[in-house]
Amino acid sequence: MAEIGAIEAERTEVLISERDLQARVRELGAEIAADYRERDLVLLCLLKGGIYFAADLSRAIDLPITLEFVRARSYAGTESTGEVQLWWIDGLDIAGKDVLIVEDIVDTGLTLVEIWRALERKGPASLELCALLYKEKRLAHPFSIRYIGFAIGDAFVVGYGLDYEERYRNLPHIAVFHPGAPRE
Ligand code: IMP
Ligand code: MG
Repeated sequence: MAEIGAIEAERTEVLISERDLQARVRELGAEIAADYRERDLVLLCLLKGGIYFAADLSRAIDLPITLEFVRARSYAGTESTGEVQLWWIDGLDIAGKDVLIVEDIVDTGLTLVEIWRALERKGPASLELCALLYKEKRLAHPFSIRYIGFAIGDAFVVGYGLDYEERYRNLPHIAVFHPGAPRE
């Protein structure tokens, strides 16, 4: 097992430390709590990537929120496939509620466009987005992002929920991933 740690270290390079992540999540939580006071806030976590962010963010929001989950998938390897699959939207009841989507990263924005449309059809009182990471070079999307954790460059990143072929989600920090680096 110790060897795996060494191998993974060759392919990943820390971009945002665990400490910086946690500090920013606390700031976002306080900001969201102030904005949604007296409202019926639903945190809608997009799985799988939003799992750690939503878990930490929800605990940083000092309000009686509710949590919902939708699963979305659009990536294969390090590229967006252009095709978005959604699960668990059908049973979701958000009519008349203030919904805040919690997403790991906005890259092309394609995933969000699909999800946004599907959620709007359910008649929420309001719909907003909180993205931990935002790839600021790519701006071709029609929705606004109310809360952004960190704007980053165009690298492929892993950790804190983000994966490369389902691995590295459980890193406690965000790292740039180098798929070409040797495994052994
Ligand atoms: P978009 O549809 O291109 O905005 O991509 C959004 C989804 O692709 C995110 O929810 C992630 O699951 C995945 N994704 C985008 N960029 C990265 C990355 O750098 N690392 C890991 N996953 C990513
Ligand atoms: Mg993913």
